[in-house]
Amino acid sequence: MSRDKNEKGIYKNLTAYGDTEFSRYLRRAFLSSAGYDREDINRPIIGIVNTSSDYNTCHRQMPEMVDTVKRGVLEAGGLPFAFPTISLNEILTSPTTMLFRNLQAMDTEEMIRAQPMDAVVLLGGCDKTVPAQSMAAISADIPAVQIVAGSMLTGHWRGERLGACTDCRRLWASFRAGELSQEEICEIEESLCATGGTCMVMGTASTMACLLETLGLMLPGGASPPHASGDRLKNCVASGRHAVELARSDLKPSKILTRGSFVNALTVLMAIGGSTNAIVHLIAMARRANIELSLQDFNDVSQKTPMLVDCKPAGKGYMEDFHNAGGMKVLLKELEPLLDPDALTITGKPLGDLLTTYQGPGEWQETIRRKETPLQKRGAIRAVFGSLAPDGAIIKAAAASDLLMKHRGPAVVFESPADAADRIDDPRLGITPDHVMILRNGGPVGAGMPEAGSLPIPKYLAEQGIKDMVRVSDARMSGTAYGTIVLHCSPEAAVGGPLALVRDGDLIELDVEEGRIDLMVSPEELKQREADLDLPKAPARGWLKLHHEHVLQAHQGCDLDFL
Ligand code: FES
Repeated sequence: MSRDKNEKGIYKNLTAYGDTEFSRYLRRAFLSSAGYDREDINRPIIGIVNTSSDYNTCHRQMPEMVDTVKRGVLEAGGLPFAFPTISLNEILTSPTTMLFRNLQAMDTEEMIRAQPMDAVVLLGGCDKTVPAQSMAAISADIPAVQIVAGSMLTGHWRGERLGACTDCRRLWASFRAGELSQEEICEIEESLCATGGTCMVMGTASTMACLLETLGLMLPGGASPPHASGDRLKNCVASGRHAVELARSDLKPSKILTRGSFVNALTVLMAIGGSTNAIVHLIAMARRANIELSLQDFNDVSQKTPMLVDCKPAGKGYMEDFHNAGGMKVLLKELEPLLDPDALTITGKPLGDLLTTYQGPGEWQETIRRKETPLQKRGAIRAVFGSLAPDGAIIKAAAASDLLMKHRGPAVVFESPADAADRIDDPRLGITPDHVMILRNGGPVGAGMPEAGSLPIPKYLAEQGIKDMVRVSDARMSGTAYGTIVLHCSPEAAVGGPLALVRDGDLIELDVEEGRIDLMVSPEELKQREADLDLPKAPARGWLKLHHEHVLQAHQGCDLDFL
């Protein structure tokens, strides 16, 4: 069997068993059945990754988006071939989409490699889909354009503007505290998600969209148009046209991505007060590109980057406000002194050239602040290290309570998300606002790293008006969540990390300013506890077994070790 690596177009990745011409003739014959003639098949072939799915409401209008990308490809003289891959929706995928991000990345990468295409357009949106697709494109290393579904428009309830899912959480917490009735929460449920599209706060989907534009893998202005807008479709048609240009120029991710482009992405992550989930995704993407990126890099950038975007959960606006304020072009212009201008983009131009055409924030809007009047001077997301997390943990300081950023309190330990669900509201546990709630076995090996880290405030404390407490886990939290929540403790409990050794009543000390999180128990005592540890076994078969045996820790990006 032979495969000619120099072939282009429809003959790319041609499998031949001693007779190449026969294989070429077979491809033409089968394509003929779909109405393609020789004029068609001599064009650049553009693959279009379609993640439409009835299960993925965030991608509801993707079929129209795919058609629009095809129009752009045809206009530019290419031939579009859309194909399906796994599509991950945060709400309808169990136990957690993070367990399947790498599976989607493998599916996408292998289909890009296996099928003939000169460039690929990736249509994602809901949280894990975009990192999975970009990881795939980086590994397959063919010219690629990322498109996102775009955010939902905001909903309204009794005069209040609502958005998923920061307001989902806030209002559910009010319901748990007895401040809203059953009837009211039912009305709210019908108002939170007004249109198709991704969560309309600066959650993981919006964050990843902004980061892909910063990395130069998306056309300028592509991150922020809402799902239901003409601007979103214009981005689709332009991306289709541009993919044909990319196929001709052969501008691949390996020529675009540098350490400078990833540091630019870190800068934007801090400036938007973005999702903590972006940290594992950026590290995984950088690893695929053979670029070093560590939690210390996040801290270094965090220390010098002001938070400029006023969107929930760290601020008050929504993605449509960010878009109406000019979106990423305006933000990047304001961040210009902090950015590497040499970072190349799929436009073929370095970011510095693009910035000469962008303008900073206008006086008429409030969502994108100027450097002189930031929402926070620095430190939107911080990494903390210490005896509880030797390889690091992270906290979204921008969405935490100032009073809890330095805190010492006794631990109350939950063995798993299920254990927390069973016991957290039991008053016999005697949890006080000073307690540090520990959740373990929620890491990548233990549970596929679900968004379980934002444990709810125990009902009886919520009813007393307690809104925030220190919570620590090896899990993640939704990009739309908020609170003083330490996440991604590494190494995780399921591989014997210190989180596994914590017992009820142990003192935990958090000091975000100092970058520390410590378990105040003597090393001798911890050694003894270690001897009693019984680590979970790998599942018996299938993807779960492969994932358990090969997934890397959070500070390494949670990719599989062989990818
Ligand atoms: Fe899809 Fe939030 S659930 S982006």
